[in-house]
Amino acid sequence: MDQNMRPETMKRINTPKLARDFIEEQVAAVRAQVGDKKVLLALSGGVDSSVVAALLIKAIGSQLVCVHVNHGLLRKGEPEQVVEVFRNQMKANLIYVDAVDRFLDKLAGVSDPETKRKIIGAEFIRVFEEEARKQSGIEFLAQGTIYPDILESDGVKAHHNVGGLPEDLQFALVEPVRLLFKDEVRVVGKALGLPDNMVFRQPFPGPGLGVRCLGAITRDRLEAVRESDAILREEFAKNSLEGKVWQYFTVVPDFKSVGVTDGARTFAYPVIIRAVNTVDAMTATVEDVPFALLQHITERITHEVEGVNRVLYDMTPKPCGTIEWE
Ligand code: XMP
Repeated sequence: MDQNMRPETMKRINTPKLARDFIEEQVAAVRAQVGDKKVLLALSGGVDSSVVAALLIKAIGSQLVCVHVNHGLLRKGEPEQVVEVFRNQMKANLIYVDAVDRFLDKLAGVSDPETKRKIIGAEFIRVFEEEARKQSGIEFLAQGTIYPDILESDGVKAHHNVGGLPEDLQFALVEPVRLLFKDEVRVVGKALGLPDNMVFRQPFPGPGLGVRCLGAITRDRLEAVRESDAILREEFAKNSLEGKVWQYFTVVPDFKSVGVTDGARTFAYPVIIRAVNTVDAMTATVEDVPFALLQHITERITHEVEGVNRVLYDMTPKPCGTIEWE
């Protein structure tokens, strides 16, 4: 039987009971595969890697070595949450790498979107590789490959922009959720005790906020993206839009416009709000966000986010706009 094909008899995991059965099976399978050897995992804090981490902690405890690379392009509170959930609560063996300066230095002055993506992907692999080399006795690499990755990309985890580790660092793979669809991964994550905001989070691009801080990334605009995104998420959660809208975020372009605050002229950045619905991300429609809520979010962003004097709502469906801005 092909280990990477979902058997027709496999039930859709859509209840806590089915999730618990799956977890039990996978815990046994991972223990049988790994024995007393060590397993390395790049833990981004996204749904798939988080569920794999929680599952492997249950199966092999401290034989799992998680590496969380903070590249400075994560959303507000995300690196802190990874440390809190996995190191403090689940007692994982977690290596936290603060690589913020390293990434931002590499990205300084780079404005082409694809070059930015390549730099972020390549630097990520380099940092991960360095951490892998510091470890001894690693024999396995765990990955959050899910079934659509297998169906859509010949079994390669669709990291989009991340290449592979070099030849001398090729480990046997542990991919416990490779036969699951995204909704099933979420049910399993919930059964493993992961917090809702980790399990039900909206999709987030691999290059993170790097493609929402348009053009050459600067620290001030990156902070404006992070802070405005946090306000948008908070307001969507308060107004029951979290979980209803497929993807929503803010973008900060690399130009300024004139404004006025307290009678004085300002020259500052705009923030663009994007909120879309889609089934497969190939086409998308714009969410009809209540006007009063948009006004309230505008008020908050212009008052609370440094260096911003204007807020716009992106009304463009896909096509002809893509979901991200670059
Ligand atoms: P677009 O902008 O092409 O986005 O309409 C479709 C979906 O893909 C996500 N996206 C990415 N995900 N690496 C990723 O992992 C990327 O470079 C990337 N670019 C876009 C986007 O957030 C949306 O969900």
